[in-house]
Amino acid sequence: MAGSIPQDFIDTVLAKVDIVEIIDPRVTLKKSGANYSACCPFHNEKTPSFSVSQTKQFYHCFGCGVNGNAISFLMEYDSMHFVDAIETLAESVGMEVPRDAAQKRNSDDIKPLYTLMASVSTFYQSQLRQSQEAIDYLKARGLSGETAKRFGIGYVPDGWDTLQQHIPGEDQALIKTGMLIKPDGGKRPYQRFRNRIMFPIKDSRGRVIGFGGRVLDKQEPKYLNSPETPLFHKGSEVYGLYEARKAAQDHGSVIVVEGYMDVVALAEHGIENVVATLGTAANEQHSQLLFKTVPTLVFCFDGDRAGRAAAWRALQATLPCLNDGRDAHFLFLPDGEDPDSVVKAGGAANFNDLMATRISIVDYLYQHLSDDIDMSSIGGKAQLAEKAKPLLKTIPAGVYKQLAMQRLEALIGLPLGPSGGVANSGNAQNSLRAGNTQRPQQKTEGGLTIMSRAVLLCLQHPEVAIQLPATSAQSINTELAGAPILLQLITGIQSDHTITTARLLERFRDTGQHPFLVKLATKSYWPDGRDLDQQTAQTEFEWCMQRLLERSQKTLRDQLDPASGKGLLGIGRR
Ligand code: UTP
Ligand code: MN
Repeated sequence: MAGSIPQDFIDTVLAKVDIVEIIDPRVTLKKSGANYSACCPFHNEKTPSFSVSQTKQFYHCFGCGVNGNAISFLMEYDSMHFVDAIETLAESVGMEVPRDAAQKRNSDDIKPLYTLMASVSTFYQSQLRQSQEAIDYLKARGLSGETAKRFGIGYVPDGWDTLQQHIPGEDQALIKTGMLIKPDGGKRPYQRFRNRIMFPIKDSRGRVIGFGGRVLDKQEPKYLNSPETPLFHKGSEVYGLYEARKAAQDHGSVIVVEGYMDVVALAEHGIENVVATLGTAANEQHSQLLFKTVPTLVFCFDGDRAGRAAAWRALQATLPCLNDGRDAHFLFLPDGEDPDSVVKAGGAANFNDLMATRISIVDYLYQHLSDDIDMSSIGGKAQLAEKAKPLLKTIPAGVYKQLAMQRLEALIGLPLGPSGGVANSGNAQNSLRAGNTQRPQQKTEGGLTIMSRAVLLCLQHPEVAIQLPATSAQSINTELAGAPILLQLITGIQSDHTITTARLLERFRDTGQHPFLVKLATKSYWPDGRDLDQQTAQTEFEWCMQRLLERSQKTLRDQLDPASGKGLLGIGRR
């Protein structure tokens, strides 16, 4: 979300502003102990549970749970966008947000292109109304005028210059948007799309950014898409999201299909929460984009070889996006069928029946991995674990990862460790866990794992990591779940001893770990809620690091080997 504003700049701004000075004019704060408090501006209350810490540069409401730094406060309280919040804060400390001049010019240049694409789309729609052949084609494919209109489907007549004649004097801009092709050698530009049904591709705001064009007969290529342009980036856009958004939000899910016609055919049959990738396999950008709108994705693929290959790529792209609360499923259609043919043959009911056969991403993961493995042999089981490991690693720490690991344990029948294994092993929130043998003297609130403890301590008392020897940090095995986060925190603290909770958290704002880190930053360490003083924090941190170093020395092989007696998998839970 930081977009073009450098992280360094954001960090400097946060180091200069004082959150108390930002909040106080908006919500009157009263000093209470080490912190400031007020009645929470984000929910109704009579006794103050909104607390602002000047040392941490962080606010937190014990009533409704809101929390964040100065940036978050402005975003929440003044409903500002991220960039506006940074600008406001920067201004308050006499700084100016660095603007990339080239970028600014670029955005000024782009605006007219959107207007132009809108006119092109309107023109194509008007041409559709005049072409009996195109109308007949769409009718034969079962499309109503209503659906065609809803998706802005149009038609471009045959010929080299229909577009230029209709929109004269705009050749340069039309070339930029990919609608015209400029041949070498000074010849006149000609239109890219000729005699095709035109599907406008819109961005999430409904602006036309490109087109997909289908031939009406058997010619090749069947579909032609807009090339990469300043407006259109095929790899990160999906078809139909603008039209699908409302239905998707209502359902909480979106169905991802392969073709333009699949999207419109399903919509024709009342299934409207559907989008398509644009002739490419679903990638991580697609999944991230869709997860911004809905918590659940259902990938729908043809049951043939190509479909299965595309599905596996979609799985790989989606695992890293599976933060808590999100989910993904896979639906494999019978070989040779696509959603369009399914609804055409038996309507929405036919499609919904098939939908019931979808499988969860975790099921699909193991199903696919064990395809060519003899799971009755010990070697086969070890092989499965070996194959699963790199994939499981890409899942963000959380319930999903926990679940996927439990499934693997069940599949390979690895004896569970002395901790009793999965059932009683602490909070599923983070999939980090402590071994049972070395319980700290005092339990923490919510049974935090060692890694979570260390991370919490760095966040709440950054000073604890200042003196940590470089060799200690370097010896932490980065494969331990959560280790990369801990190391990032330690590096941040060691490079700036005055760093605050707020500035540390800011570095994770757009990552999947942010919500989890925020929880740790505001969580009480001890079960009785008493304060954690600096000295205790230091001792606790050193104790945690010691345990983590011990664990780092164990190798994955040890842990995959049941004979070692540990029996735990080497993923995410050492
Ligand atoms: P399909 O060939 O499965 O398309 O390609 P479809 O939607 O079922 O086509 P119809 O039903 O024959 O009209 C799936 C998607 O792959 C891309 C398009 O995005 C298409 O929707 N594609 C396909 C191309 O980009 N070029 C092609 O030549 C073919
Ligand atoms: Mn089709």
